[in-house]
Amino acid sequence: MQAHRKSAICLLLSGFMLIPLLANASGICPQQRTTATAPGSFVEQKNPLPPDEKTIEKGRLLYHETARPTTCKMCHGMKGNGNGRLAPGLEPPPRNFTCAKTMNTISDGQLFWIIQNGSRSTAMPAHRNTLNNTQIWELVQFIRTFSK
Ligand code: HEC
Repeated sequence: MQAHRKSAICLLLSGFMLIPLLANASGICPQQRTTATAPGSFVEQKNPLPPDEKTIEKGRLLYHETARPTTCKMCHGMKGNGNGRLAPGLEPPPRNFTCAKTMNTISDGQLFWIIQNGSRSTAMPAHRNTLNNTQIWELVQFIRTFSK
């Protein structure tokens, strides 16, 4: 009886432990989004850089290793699903770049604008002092690969 109860508790606990693991695998999709819209001229902008290997590789490096103040992966996750190490407790949560349903509604210029200026009253930092325009467009190109 005692052993029975123990294994029941174990099963229950491991079930609960699976929940964050499963959530971590996919991320929230579609994501509720209340982000401010970029100024008119920006929203319309298309990425001036091509989605070629060189550009994407540069974006990848920034995302994972070199972007400051904090690498993007710390919040948006290694896999871009919004579940990075700093994500737990953030409200609103980091954007889930793997969610095509949400990402397809956001223009290149909008992505650029928020990376450059941050999203007010959220954890999303501004990068206007740490990344130049070319680097931001490289990041936009890389981020798009997560939902393709
Ligand atoms: C400290 C955590 C954190 C870091 C670091 C961070 N982000 Fe974010 N990011 C967020 C959060 C939180 C949001 C959601 C903001 C919102 O809902 O308005 C977000 C939203 C975004 C969006 C969505 C914009 C939109 O209009 O929906 C983009 C694009 C983005 N981040 C790109 C990046 C890139 C690129 C980097 C690295 C250079 C980065 N983020 C670093 C937390 C972070």
